[in-house]
Amino acid sequence: MDRVNELKESILAQVAEYYRLVHAKEEPFDEASSRVNYAGRVFDEREMINLAEASLEFWLTAGKWAARFEKGLAEYLGCRHALLVNSGSSANLLALMALTSPLLGERRLRRGDEVITVAAGFPTTVAPAVQYGAVPVFVDTDLQGNIDPALLEQALSPRTRAVMAAHTLGNPFRADLVRAFCDRHGLWLIEDNCDSLGSKLQGRFTGTFGDIGTSSFYPPHHLTMGEGGAVYTSDALLRKIMLSMRDWGRDCWCEPGCDNSCGCRFSRQFGELPPGYDHKYVYSHFGYNLKATDLQAAVGCAQLEKLTQFTARRRENFDRLREGLRDLEEFLILPEAAPDSEPSWFGFLMMLRHGKRNEFARCLEDNRIQTRNLFGGNLTRQPCFGALEKGREYRIVGELKNTDRIMNDSLWVGVYPGMTAQKIDYMIRVIRRCFLT
Ligand SMILES: Cc1ncc(COP(=O)(O)O)c(C=O)c1O
Repeated sequence: MDRVNELKESILAQVAEYYRLVHAKEEPFDEASSRVNYAGRVFDEREMINLAEASLEFWLTAGKWAARFEKGLAEYLGCRHALLVNSGSSANLLALMALTSPLLGERRLRRGDEVITVAAGFPTTVAPAVQYGAVPVFVDTDLQGNIDPALLEQALSPRTRAVMAAHTLGNPFRADLVRAFCDRHGLWLIEDNCDSLGSKLQGRFTGTFGDIGTSSFYPPHHLTMGEGGAVYTSDALLRKIMLSMRDWGRDCWCEPGCDNSCGCRFSRQFGELPPGYDHKYVYSHFGYNLKATDLQAAVGCAQLEKLTQFTARRRENFDRLREGLRDLEEFLILPEAAPDSEPSWFGFLMMLRHGKRNEFARCLEDNRIQTRNLFGGNLTRQPCFGALEKGREYRIVGELKNTDRIMNDSLWVGVYPGMTAQKIDYMIRVIRRCFLT
């Protein structure tokens, strides 16, 4: 065993050294040639050591690292349960599908029921509802891309069962008002928190106002494990349903590699199965396999320790950029934090007052500053919606004027923790030049 420990220590020490030699080197910023990416992984030797440790253990599937990550994430957010999944899109799928569980009785979401949402954003906030056969009902957003709570009453119908919307680019939507609307009408609330982990509204983390919150851990996001995501909830029944649906739909809750956690594996009666049918192979839902691996979770554990520091860096970068562009208000609508919020900014959204977004994008990209649109713009104008029948398979409430404006006139740049003050100052100079010369 001593030899094993010796080997392990030596491998991990070498991994740390490898990190220092290969990854820790900071390229000096050169205005004439450096790129300013909108996002990227930020890590140190801890992530690589955890990953090496998990690979030496060779458990491969979800195990102790996944359990540690789930516990840590739930503690960070101040909610009861978190479940690790393999992407943010899987988290959204799991959250929405959880609402269809028969265990929820009369409140369950059925095909043809309506889910209020917005069209400005990422497609997989909406895709699970469409895939299930529920009807997304789109209301307009504010100019920051967030759901406008004043439009919710108009969107309500006897078939409304849920609201599912994202906090856009780290800026919280008014989850307090949306929650109150849901409570008044007995609706579920799912917060797509994929771009907002660490943001707070009224002192409380986004993702914890609703029945379920979701996260993405794809590299640009607030923390990364390459591919990964999570669902979180404080509701024990929703956790049970999501655990079942994440893990093939099974009724049993044994961890991978474990048997008989319930203590009655061969002694119960389920449905019309023979008495004592092995609980391991009893399915209470039509599920998926959305699990992530311990290798991913090991990286996530190291990232989670950095999350508070990442959030602070995102805020500092945002404030510096905003301050440097303050007097461009004549050309640009700059991002505004929601009232009583502390966003963990995912990006810096700028809307051009007089159009010409693509020219602005070109001006930035020509100067090696990476830009992004607000994802799918107005999703209802995407080719995938061409296959759906408006009015029956999706509804639009009023006009999506701000959503269209975001699609036509806005773009965003990065403020991620790897962005240096030098890069921010360079962006400020270039953006000013794009308008003032
Ligand atoms: C708001 C939002 N929801 C969901 C997702 C999907 O996450 P993933 O890429 O991990 O599937 C993204 C992706 O960036 C997103 O921005």
